[in-house]
Parts: sequence; C-alpha cells; structure tokens
Amino acid sequence: MATASWKKREEGWLLFTLGLIVLGMIYWLSPSSELRQTQWTIRGFPYEFRKPCDLIRPPDSERVAICLVGGARAFELTGPSIKHHLLGPYEGADVFVHAPIDGDAHKLSLLDGAPRLAAIRLFEPTRINQTRMATELLTARGSPHGIQGLLQYFRLVEGCLNMIEEYEALNSFQYKWVIRTRVDGYWNAPMPPVDSFDKAYYYVPYGSEFGGFNDRLGIGSRETSTVALARLSLLSKIHELGYRELHSESAFASQFEVRNVEVKKRTFPFCVLSARKYSWPPRKWGVPVLSIGSKGPLNGAKCRPCTPKLVGKRAEEVVNASERLSGWIGPTEDPKLCNAAGKWENGWENIFDKIAGEEAANARQKISSRTFSQCIQEIEEFRQKWKVWDAPSAEVLCQKGSLVDS
Ligand SMILES: *[C@@H]1O[C@H](CO)[C@@H](O)[C@H](O)[C@H]1NC(C)=O
Ligand SMILES: *[C@@H]1O[C@H](CO)[C@@H](O)[C@H](O)[C@H]1NC(C)=O
Repeated sequence: MATASWKKREEGWLLFTLGLIVLGMIYWLSPSSELRQTQWTIRGFPYEFRKPCDLIRPPDSERVAICLVGGARAFELTGPSIKHHLLGPYEGADVFVHAPIDGDAHKLSLLDGAPRLAAIRLFEPTRINQTRMATELLTARGSPHGIQGLLQYFRLVEGCLNMIEEYEALNSFQYKWVIRTRVDGYWNAPMPPVDSFDKAYYYVPYGSEFGGFNDRLGIGSRETSTVALARLSLLSKIHELGYRELHSESAFASQFEVRNVEVKKRTFPFCVLSARKYSWPPRKWGVPVLSIGSKGPLNGAKCRPCTPKLVGKRAEEVVNASERLSGWIGPTEDPKLCNAAGKWENGWENIFDKIAGEEAANARQKISSRTFSQCIQEIEEFRQKWKVWDAPSAEVLCQKGSLVDS
C-alpha cells in the first residue's frame, strides 16, 4: 500500500516536471518573439503586465507608420494598388489617413481589409490665415490654388505627423520608420523593404523636383520624418534664415537644409493620377504625363489611363530631354507618354481595367455604382476596423458623396 502511494506521488511529480519543461519550451521556442520580449515591471505587489497590447505588436525595430494624405478623388482607381503594393510589403505597419471631408472621402473604405488601420482623421477644410511671414516666404507661382493652396497642403502633411505623435502617446511607443505619401498614387510594383533604407537619411523619389525635392512620397526614420513632415511649423524658421519665393518642392528642400538632414533619391514604382491638362508634346520645361501602363518606376510622375501617343525610343527621348531640375521623371524604363492636352479620353475605364487587373477593375466598378445604403453599410463596417476614428458618421460621408439608392 505504502509503495503504491509513493509511486503515485512520484508519477505526479514526474508529470509536473515534464509539464514545466514543455511550458518552458513553448515560451522560449515560441515563434512569437513578442511573447519572449514582454516586459515585466514590479510595481509593489503583485507583478503587473506593462502594455499588454505589445503582445500583438511587431518588435520595435520594425515598427512602421504609413501615412496617406489628400483628397480621395481617384481612390477607386488608386486604392487597390495602394493596398497591394504600398501596404502589402510592410506587414506589421500601422496605417494613418489624413484627408478632407468631401464628396470622395467615402471611397476611402476601399482600405477595408488592410491589416492594421490605426487612425483616420477626416477634417472640414477651413481657410488658413495667411500671415505676412507666409506671404514673404512662399510664392503662388506654379501652385493652382496660390499660397493658400500651399498652406492647405502643408497642413494636410503636418497633420499626419500630429496624428502619429498622438497615437504614439496613447500607446506609449515610438515608430522607427514613417512612410508618407498621397492617396492619389497609382502603384505598379511593390515598395522596397524597410531594411533597404538607412536611418541616417531621408528618402524621396528621383524626378519631379521643380528646383527642390520631389514631395510626393517620403521615407525616413522617426527623426528625419519629423523634419520632413513639419511643413507648416518649420516655415518661420526657414523665413528667419532668409529663404524667399519658395514653392512646395523648394520649401521641402529648405526644411532639410535648416535641420541638416541629408536626403537621398531612389526610384519608386508609382505615379500620381492627375486630371490636369498639360501641353503636348511636352517641352523641355514641361510636365510629361505617363500612361499607367508604363513599365518602369515612375517616381511619382503625373499619369492617367490613356492610349499612349509616344512609346519606345521616341518616348525615352522626350523623357530624357526634359529639364533635369524640373519635370524630369527620373530614371525609368519603357515610358509611355499620353497626350494630356485634353480631358481623359473616352473609354478610359476599359483601358484602366485592362492594365490594372481584375481586382482593381472590380473595385472601380463597385465604387462607381455604389448606392447610398451600400455606402452606409460599408462605411459602418469600415469604421469598426480603426483604432481611432476621428471622422464624421457614415451618413455624413455618404451624403457628401451624393449617392442615391436606385
Ligand atoms: C485668423 O485671423 C482671424 C481674423 O483675421 C482671427 O480672428 C483668427 O483668430 C486667426 N486665427 C489664427 C489661428 O490665428
Ligand atoms: C535615355 O537616358 C537613359 C539613361 O539616362 C539611357 O539609358 C537611354 O538610352 C536614353 N534613351 C534615349 C532614347 O536617348
């Protein structure tokens, strides 16, 4: 009897020890390194978890914030490519959106399904006071909406930095990288991984420089991004140092100068969909408009769906002939040029669908035929996906879009 109960107890201990070993192995060999990196702090008794949300976050070294700004006018065309090629390659990245409330804002719901929607802020556009400093510093030349338009754009971009700062404060961490771009970018290939960038620099695309730096996309560490995105708050510093007659690209360049941040240029696989008209054929100081079906990296050049007017060697010649410090689109391959002297051609929808592929074509058709009640339902679902929704209700957004039920 005594031996039997002794044996039973021994068995119990053996099982208990084995259990501990297995638990230990799960802990140390766990694929979720976050589990292992969970920090414990002693605050009196008992022990408590710090930041339990860290459990589902990627390690610090990979924390990326992607900020999309601007009017969603063409988002039924750009949204799927942004999801696929810009958000897709950065699996653990948090997405931020800063955009005006207008008739197109409802289209942003195409972002639904992207993995980490952090914060969205849709704001009612209001006039910005044009101080004497701003009037002296900036020039209206080349800006379709003058100095006010520039200030509006700067607020749009800097608002993104504010959102990121607020989100960081809310969650007690800092991002390591910030990627900022526009919602009207059409992507034709995936973005490069973050480990191909160096934290010492700020990265912008080649081309479309207009005497400064291309400001259609930027990537940098949290530190260099703070300089790049501070587009309004650095103006007085730039003014103080004597800069004058700046437009968007040159003001962007002077921000880096006054803060000693070195900028590097790279090629990036996107173009900016534009309804603007440009003279044809493009002149040396003009702006070439590319077909979205061009193969190479377009580095944020202006584009539209079109039947190309110039391809091959002759298109390359025109691109090569454009002024390096102005509208040149940077190194590319197989550019196809559109005649952008008029509106988008009849039947552009079919051209778009063929080039962009089935998924994008479906998204375009879905948004173009969206009814009011579909809109309400989809925006409601979309709203649930965000950690921070600083935007009007579905009703307001769908009404702004003038959608009706058939
Ligand atoms: C802008 O100017 C108006 C009057 O010109 C003034 O009432 C308002 O407070 C100013 N806003 C800011 C943010 O300075
Ligand atoms: C255009 O320039 C690139 C390099 O900048 C060169 O490789 C290409 O051959 C040029 N094309 C033409 C048609 O001149």
